[in-house]
Amino acid sequence: MRPSEAHPQSLESLHGDIWNRLGQATSDLSHPWRTPTLATAGPDHPDARIVVLREVDLHERKLVCFSDSRTHKVAGVRIQPAATWCFYDPVSRIQLRARGETRVHVYNSVTRLYWEKLPHSSRRLYATVPRPGERILAPWEIPFGDHPVEQFAVLVTTVHELDWLQLKPEHHERARFRWDADSWEAHWVCP
Ligand SMILES: Cc1cc2nc3c(=O)[nH]c(=O)nc-3n(C[C@H](O)[C@H](O)[C@H](O)COP(=O)(O)O)c2cc1C
Repeated sequence: MRPSEAHPQSLESLHGDIWNRLGQATSDLSHPWRTPTLATAGPDHPDARIVVLREVDLHERKLVCFSDSRTHKVAGVRIQPAATWCFYDPVSRIQLRARGETRVHVYNSVTRLYWEKLPHSSRRLYATVPRPGERILAPWEIPFGDHPVEQFAVLVTTVHELDWLQLKPEHHERARFRWDADSWEAHWVCP
């Protein structure tokens, strides 16, 4: 049986559905895809951590998160821009991996746009004098500096591959979408 006969959803509508879900995750605070895992390669070892998905752009194929410019992940993607975002929804049992190249913006026109919209309570997160991961005496004794905007980083991943997996009782379904020059190439793949 061809995939189109076995599956009521076309790859094209599935692709639209993926970007819709990503878009919803940026505005719905309880959406499970709002807090994906971002995996990066370096600088000294592979690492993975939760981030908040801040913005999605289907046409530009972009995923955006914020970070402190002094973090391990920022140092890592500066050396090796290849990164993977992993999303999981335990209710629908859908996993999405989005692979792409990540660019770091610090103290430029891009960061200024997002900084303007950031509540003051969030801005404070970027004002710590100690670097993220640096040893401190106690969490309640952290000194804060006066120039948090200079430590605010925006990470933008341009996605070139989406790997979608849905677990189902009868059979699992997996599809891969690859950006090929100017369009998405889509295939069903064996889970
Ligand atoms: C729910 C949740 C959301 C988080 N969101 C972010 C985020 O948007 N950006 C970020 O840099 N760290 C975020 N963190 C903290 C990271 O997971 C991580 O601990 C921190 O960024 C240091 O990571 P690194 O040393 O690998 O760079 C979040 C953690 C949790 C638990």
